[in-house]
Amino acid sequence: MNVLAINGSPRADGNTAHMLRTVLDVCAEAGLDTELYQAGGRPVRGCAACGKCSEHPGRCEFDDWVNGLYQKMKAAGAIVIGSPTYYSDLTAETKALIDRCGFLSGSEGRSLSRKIGAAVSAVRRAGGIHTLDSIQHFFLINDMIVPGSTYWNMSLSLQPGDYDRDEEGVGTMRRLGENIVWLVQRLQTVNE
Ligand SMILES: Cc1cc2nc3c(=O)[nH]c(=O)nc-3n(C[C@H](O)[C@H](O)[C@H](O)COP(=O)(O)O)c2cc1C
Repeated sequence: MNVLAINGSPRADGNTAHMLRTVLDVCAEAGLDTELYQAGGRPVRGCAACGKCSEHPGRCEFDDWVNGLYQKMKAAGAIVIGSPTYYSDLTAETKALIDRCGFLSGSEGRSLSRKIGAAVSAVRRAGGIHTLDSIQHFFLINDMIVPGSTYWNMSLSLQPGDYDRDEEGVGTMRRLGENIVWLVQRLQTVNE
């Protein structure tokens, strides 16, 4: 089972990226295959509500990177979506991929069912809970399984590098990674 992390921040080496990297490092240490996908900062458009994905299930009419990312999501056993908090919510790129991949999953009869889904957010001071909620709503309506950690999956960080000094934030990410590994191992046993 592989673990796909998606960075919704335009900063490819910022706080969210480092948070996701911590989670993936724990998964890799346990022998899981991991990938960090950079979504933030890439041109993207939102769902057009055109309904064309129901005519060609699993493929969005806008043939940009979201189609390729959706294939990676389908292949993954666990998906970790990270977004910095922007005005108490997720980034525009993260919202676009959630709306479009959600409809693509629906067009194929809920292709993301029973995958593990976790959300993380870098936040300077306030609004991070709302960002996590927005991402987790995507997992929960897509029939996915959401693990927790020992705090909400945030780091208090403004400038790149702040997360790495947020000891509690790093610990929260490590525990999230451990919980993903724990779940993956048990799901594998059930499916054997
Ligand atoms: C457009 C914009 C809006 C932001 N809104 C908030 C906010 O509502 N609350 C907050 O605490 N921080 C806010 N921030 C700060 C970021 O969440 C913070 O810098 C975070 O560490 C960025 O993560 P990154 O390095 O992964 O991009 C905002 C930053 C930007 C650029």
